[in-house]
Amino acid sequence: MNIHESEKIAGILEYMGYLACENEEDADIIVFNTCCIRDNAEKRALGNIGAVKHLKKLKPELITAVAGCMTQQDGAGLNLRNKYPYVDIVLGTNNLFELENCIQKLKNSKKKSVLIDPNERPEVLENEKVYRTSGCNAWLNIMYGCNNFCTYCIVPYVRGRERSRKMANIIDEFKSLVDQGYKEITLLGQNVNSYGHDLDDGSNFAKLLEEVAKIDGKHRIRFMTSHPKDLNLDVIDIISQSPNICNNIHLPIQSGSNKILKLMNRHYTREYYLDTIDAIKAKIPDCGITTDLMVGFPYEEEEDFEDTLDIVRKVKYSSAFTFIYSVRKGTKAAQMPQIAPEVSKNRITRLIAEQNKITKELSRGYEGKVFEVLCEDVAPKKEGFVCGRTDSGRMVTFQGDKSLIGEFVNVKINKSQSASLFGELTEEK
Ligand code: 5AD
Ligand code: SF4
Repeated sequence: MNIHESEKIAGILEYMGYLACENEEDADIIVFNTCCIRDNAEKRALGNIGAVKHLKKLKPELITAVAGCMTQQDGAGLNLRNKYPYVDIVLGTNNLFELENCIQKLKNSKKKSVLIDPNERPEVLENEKVYRTSGCNAWLNIMYGCNNFCTYCIVPYVRGRERSRKMANIIDEFKSLVDQGYKEITLLGQNVNSYGHDLDDGSNFAKLLEEVAKIDGKHRIRFMTSHPKDLNLDVIDIISQSPNICNNIHLPIQSGSNKILKLMNRHYTREYYLDTIDAIKAKIPDCGITTDLMVGFPYEEEEDFEDTLDIVRKVKYSSAFTFIYSVRKGTKAAQMPQIAPEVSKNRITRLIAEQNKITKELSRGYEGKVFEVLCEDVAPKKEGFVCGRTDSGRMVTFQGDKSLIGEFVNVKINKSQSASLFGELTEEK
């Protein structure tokens, strides 16, 4: 979501005639697109903003702007301006489109701007300018905001309520991306499964998937993120029936303990979640399932954490994003008693070790088999090698040159090393 938002910022700047540059010393304008989902993301953003002070001294005409969800927290906009007076423009998540005006105003009359619209349900913008930076993958927003209010999460406060784009507009953008040659299109939303609920025109995520899957061309469709309470059988059926929708589902569970799930306001139990996983595995046997996991949530005891480890062993995720719970001011969980940091650290180490064992075991299952891979990029630090993903979302490195980028190729997996798969091009299918 943030990467795509940065592409929209870059789209506005490109339209204004700016070019991307490698070094910040060469920049005429620096825009920070911030995230406040966890404390460390926020700290990093503030550290980076602090680091431009010296650039502004060297080059007073440098324009600095801060955007992204961090600015949308209570009082954050003014706070930023006071603590970092060399920041010229502060924009809330719903004010991004005003960047051009703010830059013009600054250039014409040296007027600085802080524009943060508290509106919970801003209008959904169409025809935004986007400067795409993700190779053969294109991100496509299908909705914005979130209605779920998980008790740990700041997102509904900083991004407002769910707003879905009209299906016809999404389909038009999808077709245009296919025409432009993108080989993978990822549908984006905080909770894609509740797509359309706010539209009152009968649209829903299953129908949207069905429609985009009919669009001609050789390309892949991915989506994220799904909420376990809303992922239904219709969606699972459509994935299983549509060869161009990847067999890859990101289904964040957060915790394996019913007690903790209730405290988190997640609206499902571990049993319900495992039933959904069974339904996925029954319909899409080779589905790559990934998740988000959190440890150290208030009231998490050793037995709750054991329940999380148990879910990890039962589901066998191909990979997992693991987080230590981070207190977010203004959320319900911030009022709850907090866990000692060393307990959380111990749990996350054990959780990562458990998941790594599973990833390694699943990786071995790929050896000797042939997969269709979309070649995405040159391999990092490996001359003469390229990399790309299988339909199930696993990254594979293989020998080849960069002319293969954007091509679908068959790769035989020879070797695996933890999460990494290594293979060679083959004619085999
Ligand atoms: N602390 C730690 N992790 C969080 N996430 C969201 N809020 C927090 C928080 N306060 C994680 C969840 C979510 C992912 C995007 O970020 O696991 O699924
Ligand atoms: Fe945050 Fe929960 Fe919404 Fe995800 S579903 S963005 S975790 S409130």
